Amino acid sequence: MRIGILGGGQLARMLALAGHPLGLQCVFLESAPEACAAPVGRLVTGAFKAEAALADFAAAIDVVTTELEHVPLAALEYLAQRRPLLPGSRAIALAQDRLLEKDLFRRLQLPTAHCVAVDTLEELVCAMAETGLPAVLKTRHMGYDGKGQVVLRETADAAAAWRAVGGVPCLLEAMVPFDREVSVIAVRSREGECRFWPLTENRHRNGILSVSRALLQDPLQMLAEDYCRRLLEALDYVGVLALELFQVGDSLLANEYAPRVHNSGHWTIEGAVTSQFENHLRAVAGLPLGATDARGAAAMINFVGQVPERRELLAVAGAHLHLYGKRPAHGRKLGHATLCAVSSALLEQGVRTVLQLTQYREKESALD
Ligand SMILES: Nc1ncnc2c1ncn2[C@@H]1O[C@H](COP(=O)(O)OP(=O)(O)O)[C@@H](O)[C@H]1O
Ligand SMILES: [Mg+2]
Repeated sequence: MRIGILGGGQLARMLALAGHPLGLQCVFLESAPEACAAPVGRLVTGAFKAEAALADFAAAIDVVTTELEHVPLAALEYLAQRRPLLPGSRAIALAQDRLLEKDLFRRLQLPTAHCVAVDTLEELVCAMAETGLPAVLKTRHMGYDGKGQVVLRETADAAAAWRAVGGVPCLLEAMVPFDREVSVIAVRSREGECRFWPLTENRHRNGILSVSRALLQDPLQMLAEDYCRRLLEALDYVGVLALELFQVGDSLLANEYAPRVHNSGHWTIEGAVTSQFENHLRAVAGLPLGATDARGAAAMINFVGQVPERRELLAVAGAHLHLYGKRPAHGRKLGHATLCAVSSALLEQGVRTVLQLTQYREKESALD
């Protein structure tokens, strides 16, 4: 079976690597010929807006899925008319617009931060009175890795914040004083069976995910699964979905969802019985889902901008290295390590060592 993937980045690459042993071939639609997924599947080079490229892509595949949420709706519609698109275009479209996404959360009675739609500077000033300060101004469209966001601390920040986001339609959100950030990664089959991996705790650096830890038997697991199941069912979802949440005491607030495999689920490659990548392919291919249990304590560390020395990284007990084959650039995700351990104490020791190796590399490259 040939699985078409919209995008040819590291998520597409890891999907293709998971599909290979199952006899599933991946075909990527991507405009960059040097895309990092290219060595592990077939690349159809072209823009999502180019009808000839969409036609070539559709002819080369049996089913289509995405590694990105920011795909033009016209491309999704074109492909959905020709091949099964999983997840469907509604699930992808709602995730492209923070306002529609938050409206959906509210309809499903998932708690969220207090938020207000803002289309002008005047509306922003009124919205600040509603949400209170501090607050986060977020563009409705095209935000990722903290981009398209500005924190407002006082009323006087309004004009500069509005300029900084480019005066486009936005959402103003009350700043949540969260205890921690967690995500729940789920998979739903074509028949509607849902499975959930253990919750993951996420720490960010400069707006980009830095470290994820699997939370084994967390007291909030059931609540997160309940929220996520409502979303999966409302969207009639097929494949892997990630729901990002803020934990405040015993409650969870829904922040956003990703209609795709997610960076906070990378630990599942070695840390779970079945990885998010394999289960996503199983779901879209109409195959039975695999078990989502953790094998033990696990964590993931992202390599952003630079990668530690391979020899040193692989000398850390329980460390597994994933390099994406991308040219290094500031702020670019180049790879990650999964750490597996028999106890959380040993896991934390490994995480500390890998972070030290990463920071050492950062200091070195700053001197280059
Ligand atoms: N309302 C909020 N309160 C507190 N922190 C927030 C809020 N919204 C976003 N953040 C912080 O900014 C990060 C990125 O925001 P998010 O909405 O997830 O956008 P994206 O991941 O698409 O860039 C979050 O992971 C969180 O650390
Ligand atoms: Mg996010």
